[in-house]
Amino acid sequence: MRGTQEEPTVRLAGKTALITGAGVGIGRATAVLFAKEGADIVVVDLNETTGAETVQIIVDAGGKAAFVKADVSNEAQVAAMFDAAIAAFGKLDIVFNNAGIVKQGTVEQSSVEDWNQQIGTTLTSVFLGCKYGVPLLRAQGGGVILNMASVAGTMGIVNRAIYSAAKGGVVGLTRAVAMDYAPEKIRAVYICPATIETPSLTERINSSPDPVEARKAFEARQPIGRLGTPDDVAYAALFAASAEGSFLTGCSLTVDGGMSM
Ligand SMILES: NC(=O)c1ccc[n+]([C@@H]2O[C@H](COP(=O)([O-])OP(=O)(O)OC[C@H]3O[C@@H](n4cnc5c(N)ncnc54)[C@H](O)[C@@H]3O)[C@@H](O)[C@H]2O)c1
Repeated sequence: MRGTQEEPTVRLAGKTALITGAGVGIGRATAVLFAKEGADIVVVDLNETTGAETVQIIVDAGGKAAFVKADVSNEAQVAAMFDAAIAAFGKLDIVFNNAGIVKQGTVEQSSVEDWNQQIGTTLTSVFLGCKYGVPLLRAQGGGVILNMASVAGTMGIVNRAIYSAAKGGVVGLTRAVAMDYAPEKIRAVYICPATIETPSLTERINSSPDPVEARKAFEARQPIGRLGTPDDVAYAALFAASAEGSFLTGCSLTVDGGMSM
């Protein structure tokens, strides 16, 4: 029986998961949680130092992980990233296209260079992760794609024009992927967090003119009255990736403390 004292079980035993942007924040928390739940992890990041740290955390806890350096906006590097994942663990069951960047500003404040960078790192990356990931999931008879969107992809947020465009694209793309591959038992789910306290957010708060007020303003955006944690998102991702989430596809996991209700 599942989860009894006699036979403790883990949710992702025998699975291999590739997670992009796993050097910090939500990606790292998910990598560590998925490893604890039995998955072998391919940690992808541009930053070799933080990526290697995530691998070390997993290995120190008794899990298995390999680091692959890749720029997820670059097609050749994404193709090589999946080759490296197969070389490391022989197969792939779960792809979490998580890496992304945030460029703030209105349309007037955003340049075409900003747009191209935002779309490349946050939307083209997800397209490539699906394009090159699907054949590997198909080879396993099915699998799960998790795509990182944001509440900014489903509601208006001040000063996030091109970020919102990229995340809205992730929402549409994920639904289309879910439709196209449902017959092949490949599920695709998009995740919409609100304000999650990752190192980049902490830095943004602490470098503002009034960090106390800045924190209060971020907290007030969520009716639940606090910032989210990377683990809040990681546990939602775990549910979607595991057998318990097997009836989810083409839908949102909205992890937002009520921000978009
Ligand atoms: N933190 C939040 O409040 C929040 C809210 C909603 C959505 N998100 C989304 O969650 C995802 C993760 O955000 P986070 O705040 O946990 O982490 P982060 O933004 O602090 O870091 C993202 C990671 O991605 C890596 N990365 C950036 N560009 C890359 C590239 N081209 N190729 C490979 N790796 C790259 C970085 O090195 C870093 O390790 C992002 O897509 C972000 O838009 C975050």
